[in-house]
Parts: sequence; structure tokens; C-alpha cells
Amino acid sequence: MTRIAIIGPGSIGGAVALWLEQTGRHDLTLCARRPLAKLSMDSPAGHLEARLKVWTQPAEAEPVDWVLVATKATQAAATALWFPRLVGPTTRVAILQNGVEHIELFSPYLPIERIVPVMVALSSERPAPDHILQRGPGRMVVPDDAKGRDFVALLQDTPIDVKTSSDFKTVVWRKLCGNAPGVINALLLQPTVVMRGEKIGELARALVRECIAVGRAEGAALDDDVEGAVVQALRQAPPDSINSLHADRANGRPMEIDVRNGVIVRLGRKHGIPTPCNAMAVALLEAMQDGSAGPSPRG
Ligand SMILES: NC(=O)c1ccc[n+]([C@@H]2O[C@H](COP(=O)([O-])OP(=O)(O)OC[C@H]3O[C@@H](n4cnc5c(N)ncnc54)[C@H](OP(=O)(O)O)[C@@H]3O)[C@@H](O)[C@H]2O)c1
Repeated sequence: MTRIAIIGPGSIGGAVALWLEQTGRHDLTLCARRPLAKLSMDSPAGHLEARLKVWTQPAEAEPVDWVLVATKATQAAATALWFPRLVGPTTRVAILQNGVEHIELFSPYLPIERIVPVMVALSSERPAPDHILQRGPGRMVVPDDAKGRDFVALLQDTPIDVKTSSDFKTVVWRKLCGNAPGVINALLLQPTVVMRGEKIGELARALVRECIAVGRAEGAALDDDVEGAVVQALRQAPPDSINSLHADRANGRPMEIDVRNGVIVRLGRKHGIPTPCNAMAVALLEAMQDGSAGPSPRG
């Protein structure tokens, strides 16, 4: 049996854990901050429930074949405290997070040849600490190399569609283009319907245009039509949908500002590409997060 540890049994980690558990082919352990007697999920494919082994302290952990990291990118340093006990001589570590810098974020803590970056497209939320709601089908993409192909094999027999790509850079930058306008919702604390307004739509386009320019400078093959496609998709999304940046701000949790918009500004600066819209959004959201902009929505 393949030994797998999942760090961060939240919306993504919990969903993946339950799907892997169903295959009956793995020895699975959750690495969590608190005990979890059971985990359940409602998904388009039905209801799942399991009692899984849980470690709540890094000192309890043992070496495994695969570590799946599903914490937020803001938690990299705390996540890394698990690695010394989990990672043995042949362990691979898959990073199931948003962003384009999976390797850069975790290379201070792990040899890069162990890291498998994963693009996650799976809409899920956690209405309770032990319950997950998966809203649609899950899709993941990994680089087309030996580790990526092993990751595809690991997830086989689950309903998550995992594929390799020979152009992973373009895959993650395309996803980032889709995420970049979400900062508008987090700033306004308004769901996706706000994108249907003409001026907000123009602002969303500008955020995506900056992302495309920086992504191209980084080597991603992004077509001009990405800009229109992103805004159209947002306008057609369920009007009440709430992205994770918005949800995290509304609930007073740390926001993934840097992996979603800060990275566009940082890498834009490196390439001499102006990113004024993303820079303003990042500055405003960071000021709200650190309290320098006044009381949070929870006041
Ligand atoms: N949810 C989605 O629809 C979705 C879609 C695509 C991509 N993503 C990306 O996937 C990543 C994970 O997001 P998510 O939505 O699954 O987040 P989430 O629901 O907040 O789950 C994060 C989990 O990590 C746990 N955690 C935090 N620090 C930890 C530590 N030091 N040790 C162990 N566990 C720790 C949290 O524990 P607590 O319960 O104690 O807080 C929580 O269970 C993010 O990068 C996100 O952007 C999410």
C-alpha cells in the first residue's frame, strides 16, 4: 500500500483524502492542526464519509511515500514543520495550491527534485471543519515528467481528472489569469455578480491584461483571447459565487494576496512591465489585512 500523508485536510485536502480513501489502495494519514474524528463530503458523485488516521503534531509523523500539501500558500513555513518527519529518502511532495511559484515557495524547505507542483481546478468549500462540499468535477494538471506521471497514477481510480502537460508554465499562468480579477470581489466584499457591471468588467480586463503580459515575459504561451474569455466566464458564473480571497477576507483569515496578485506585481517589476491595477489592488488589500486601513469587516 502506498503511504500518503495529506497536510491540511481542508476543502481541497479533505476532498482528495476522501477520494483516495475510496480506492482502498492507500495507507492514508491526515496531518491536521486539530483532531478530526471523521471527515465527510457531499459531491456531485454522492456522499462520502471516512474515519481516517490523523496526526496533529509533526513529532507523531512517520516517513511516507507521498506527501500532499493542501494548506493555503500563506502557511508554507508552518507546513514545512511537518517535512523532517514525513520526508524520507524517496518521498515525493505534491503541492496542491494556487499560484505559479509552487517550487519557489517550497524550495527553502525541500530539495526541488522532490517537489511536484499541481494546478488544482476543483471547486470546494468547508461549511464545517469535518465536512466538505465539492461543487463540481475536479481537475488537476502536473508537469509531464516522471514525478508528474507518478502523481497521475496515484490519483487513478478517483473521479479527479489528473493530466500531465508539457507546458505546465502556461497552465498555471492561465489559471492565474482567471484568479487575478478575484481581488475585486475581495476588495468590494461582493460576489461574482459584480463583474457584470461595465466599469468593473473593464477593471477585471485590465488586471488580466497585466497578468498576460507578465506571464508571457515568464515564458507562458497566453493568447490575446484569454482576457475576454476570463471576463466572460466570470460574468456567466453563478452570481452569488464567492472566491477564496473574498471568503478569507470576510472571515478575517490570512489571504493568498501574494500568490494571486502580488506575484504579478513582483515579476512585472523584474521584467520592467508596469502592473498598476494589480499593484493598487495588492496595496489596498494588504492595508486591509494588516489593519492599517482601519477595522476589518468583522470590525
Ligand atoms: N477550495 C477551492 O475551491 C480551491 C480551488 C482551487 C485551488 N485552491 C487552492 O488550494 C489550496 C488549499 O485551499 P483550501 O480551499 O483547501 O484551503 P482550506 O479549506 O482553508 O484548507 C487548508 C487546510 O490547511 C490546514 N492547515 C493550515 N496550516 C496547517 C498546518 N500547519 N498543519 C496542518 N494543517 C494546516 C487548515 O487547518 P484548519 O482547519 O485548522 O484551518 C485547513 O484544514 C490553496 O492554495 C487554494 O488557493 C482551492
